[in-house]
Amino acid sequence: MTTTTRYTSQVPSNTIQVLIDRDRIAVRVEEIAAQISRDLADVRVEGEIVLVPILTGSIIFVADLIRHLPHKIRIEVATVQSYYGEKKKVKQAKIIGALPRNVDGKHVLIVDDILDSGETIRLIRNELQQRNPKSIRACVLLRKQRPTAMQTTCEYVGFDIPDEFVVGYGLDYQSYYRNLPDVCTFKGDAP
Ligand code: IMP
Ligand code: MG
Repeated sequence: MTTTTRYTSQVPSNTIQVLIDRDRIAVRVEEIAAQISRDLADVRVEGEIVLVPILTGSIIFVADLIRHLPHKIRIEVATVQSYYGEKKKVKQAKIIGALPRNVDGKHVLIVDDILDSGETIRLIRNELQQRNPKSIRACVLLRKQRPTAMQTTCEYVGFDIPDEFVVGYGLDYQSYYRNLPDVCTFKGDAP
């Protein structure tokens, strides 16, 4: 089991704890890749996957995942910003910049770090669906155990986690902590 001591330069070890350590993540990432490979076995022989990582949270996950995929892969990133609307209760997602256009007839795999409200995955899937892909699938490392997340269609889920704020392995708090190698939670308030 990994200790938190190596984090002390970035965050005091008494304020953070490891929820899923890097070894468990590595094993699970390989399992997900094997599952994707099985589901898209035909594509390995002919065709390609258009992989759509959602920036910025998915960068580390996607970097690890693609190195276990034997397919011909094209990466087309998408940027989504989450914000709260006027009523401040419902989280909404907005696409920043262009989405990949050349997905016509292709197998699309959307990759994100975490499924929280589900808004991001629903939005991207709907947008890309309109561009006539041959198939479309979504993959997240983490899914919070909350109704809206569990009800969102997502073909590949690494870990179901409690409805808590997490950082590390790509996930941030105020743009920091993405480089922590493990998925961590804060004890009490974030520093
Ligand atoms: P959703 O659209 O509500 O499903 O939220 C997805 C996005 O919110 C993710 O891509 C993350 O960027 C961010 N997010 C949600 N929960 C967390 C968390 O616990 N830690 C860090 N980022 C999170
Ligand atoms: Mg994100």
